[in-house]
Amino acid sequence: MIVTIDGPAGSGKSTAARGLAQRLQFDFLDTGAMYRAVAWQCLQRSIDLHDESAVAACTHAMPLRLEQQHVFVDGCDVTAEVRHPDISRGSSIVASNPAVRRELAARQREFASGRNVVTEGRDQGTAVFPNAECKFYVTANAEERAARRQRELLERHEQTVPLDDILTQIRERDARDKTRVIDPLRAADDAIRVDTSGVTPEAVLDRLESLVRERMARANP
Ligand code: DC
Repeated sequence: MIVTIDGPAGSGKSTAARGLAQRLQFDFLDTGAMYRAVAWQCLQRSIDLHDESAVAACTHAMPLRLEQQHVFVDGCDVTAEVRHPDISRGSSIVASNPAVRRELAARQREFASGRNVVTEGRDQGTAVFPNAECKFYVTANAEERAARRQRELLERHEQTVPLDDILTQIRERDARDKTRVIDPLRAADDAIRVDTSGVTPEAVLDRLESLVRERMARANP
């Protein structure tokens, strides 16, 4: 069974996807980490992120592995490094490169082949797994998403970034993700929409879990 969770940055989809995979004992696929790894690798190699063919070649040749919520590039664990704000910005640039999207979508399908998976990203229910059995589109208002990102930056990098700066970055990234020509961020027609504004992560998780279990029961009565 494939469960897709799409939505904008800071919507709470990552926490929900990880928790859901754990509760259901499904594998977890963080596709954002793959785009982040591409940006990381290009920056390591001083490749201009706007140079589409150089970025595509780098992606194609990149040994990328996702395992137990860690990301490895060429055997090197880059899980923490790819969360840096420079990589967040860079990942949204490489994500609008059609060749990068094609390559990563193929690797995502390969990862999910023959497994039960909870996969999260922007295009999982629309482009990568259009036949997924259960699709969610998770959102929250921009102000709440900015406040969540601010707390995360403080916890992860001990960085205090003004809320207004984060809000501006979130709006820029939303605009880029939603308006790109190929596979823009949008809800699949058959996705269940979940607004997490003002809702605790535990309550979001409970709701998602019960919806998936309902679908599983219907599929295997
Ligand atoms: O979910 P995230 O913040 O880790 O994603 C990083 C970037 O990658 C973000 O700008 C959107 C992009 N992305 C995408 O275009 N498609 C996906 N399936 C996952 C992420």
